[in-house]
Amino acid sequence: MTAFDPRTLRDAFGAFATGVTVVTSRTGDGSPIGFTANSFASVSLDPPLLLICLAKTSRNFANMTGAKAFAVNVLAENQKDVSNTFAKPVEDRFAAVKWQDGPAGSPVFPGAAAWFDCTSEEIVDAGDHAILIGRVAGFENSGRNGLGYVRGGYFTPSLEAKAARASVDEDTNVSAVVERAGEILLVPADGDRFALPSTTLGDRDPMDAIEADLLSRTGIQTTAGYLFSVFEDRAGSRQNIVYRTGAAEGAPRAGQFVAISDIPFDRLDTPQTADILRRFISEQALGNYGVYFGNETAGRVHAFAGKA
Ligand SMILES: Cc1cc2nc3c(=O)[nH]c(=O)nc-3n(C[C@H](O)[C@H](O)[C@H](O)COP(=O)(O)O)c2cc1C
Repeated sequence: MTAFDPRTLRDAFGAFATGVTVVTSRTGDGSPIGFTANSFASVSLDPPLLLICLAKTSRNFANMTGAKAFAVNVLAENQKDVSNTFAKPVEDRFAAVKWQDGPAGSPVFPGAAAWFDCTSEEIVDAGDHAILIGRVAGFENSGRNGLGYVRGGYFTPSLEAKAARASVDEDTNVSAVVERAGEILLVPADGDRFALPSTTLGDRDPMDAIEADLLSRTGIQTTAGYLFSVFEDRAGSRQNIVYRTGAAEGAPRAGQFVAISDIPFDRLDTPQTADILRRFISEQALGNYGVYFGNETAGRVHAFAGKA
């Protein structure tokens, strides 16, 4: 038998792009349990069967393999934080997501791309994992786009496509949430208010545009590593691309770094800025940092420097 280096083998398996699911069930005393899994596969239409693979090292192994039912929630593009929460030893994973009981009794997420509530059909022992085969007792398909996962990083196909479309429009606004050591860079806006640093795209690559603008405006080198949001303003006249960026040391020539707990929410330039910062803060509280593959259509892939 050939002994492969497990890390190298895992990396090669990781070349297969998948969606991301959260598999849920209930313990004997009724507590909800769940973990992130990308080993999901549809198996059969008649009877309706699916499978997921569960590591024997899982803290929930005995509960999951002993349960009479489990559900598979296919995460939507905006549920990366849910994926991270259910993959980490967080005290109450279910606090991170809206959920309800599915028809077979396991927790299902109404905000997911789809969910399948199953009875446990068969458990197959398979090396360091067990294959859980479920029989679908009920399902829902919301039509939302699913979150993607490949080579250890998430991808968000429709968000990327939207960014690619937005990045050909020279009027597009590009802005950044610049975080450094728990502080966010805010710049002055009209009437004693504060804004996120932003610039107009012109004919530039969006990441180049915001990095160059920040350097000339503040004197600080930044790295646009993470596509945070793509949205149209209310009038629908202008696209907005927001990156989360890391920043090098030094005092900014313009604007100031403000501690996250001191952000003046009553003095921000627009409600969108407030929404962006609120989302940033909640993702940060979840420790939701990982390597993210940015806008590959622009030919650049960055690894984001995580939380210090
Ligand atoms: C994207 C992603 C996919 C994962 N897929 C699986 C999987 O298919 N099976 C598995 O057992 N663990 C998988 N994991 C790891 C578990 O989610 C992780 O080990 C979790 O902490 C297990 O929780 P538990 O020990 O509380 O059961 C995955 C993690 C991530 C981030």
